[in-house]
Amino acid sequence: MSNIDENKLHQGEPEIDELTKDRYLGGHEYDGIRELDNKLPRWWVYLFYATIIFAIVYMLGYHVTKWWPLQEAEYANEMSVVADLKKANPEPVVDIANMVPLTAAADLAAGEATYKKICIACHGPQGQGLVGPNFTDEYWIHGDSTTNTISIKNLYNVVITGVIEKGMIPYKDQLSPTQIQQVLSFILTFQGTNPPNPKAPQGVKYGKIS
Ligand code: HEC
Repeated sequence: MSNIDENKLHQGEPEIDELTKDRYLGGHEYDGIRELDNKLPRWWVYLFYATIIFAIVYMLGYHVTKWWPLQEAEYANEMSVVADLKKANPEPVVDIANMVPLTAAADLAAGEATYKKICIACHGPQGQGLVGPNFTDEYWIHGDSTTNTISIKNLYNVVITGVIEKGMIPYKDQLSPTQIQQVLSFILTFQGTNPPNPKAPQGVKYGKIS
């Protein structure tokens, strides 16, 4: 029976389970199984209150008073810090039109580090060429065919724009202008060396690069 009138059965007093001391809820009975009004564990109740308090604080702090910035504002704040940092530390401007290979040992060492990290995979440990062309010979693919000259400027443009269809990606976002100038200066130190297993010359034969 599902609709026992509990008050009638217990003379106005709620029926209490002897074992758990919980009150029986009236009106829920099925096949003799009845529902107890179990007390929720204290920790659960406090956790529940905590979520309510959190929600109120969150609502007031973020949406009503706007004490704290929302994600979008936070992002904008961080980006403005980055913009200020960039303004305070401008990237040294590399004058591409008048670029010449660097010769200082520190620049060549920095260039070598970049080469070993990135370029070595395709251009070979001794610049002998693998997937990418050989840097030890006097043949270059990306020289200036109209004036029949090549300089570090031409190579700079290759590194900046890449030759995607051949597998050389652009490095303008990975490397700063100075880093590119350094790695190109290092590459030019391969000129005239004779490593074993060189890749066959590609492109046009130019004189020594400057
Ligand atoms: C995934 C392979 C790959 C990597 C890595 C790579 N290159 Fe290349 N690179 C190539 C290929 C392929 C070519 C030839 C493009 C063509 O045929 O036009 C090339 C061409 C070049 C050229 C022009 C050569 C010429 O004969 O005109 C330069 C300079 C060069 N790479 C520099 C670099 C530098 C510097 C790095 C490292 C920062 C680098 N490459 C990393 C594949 C690579």
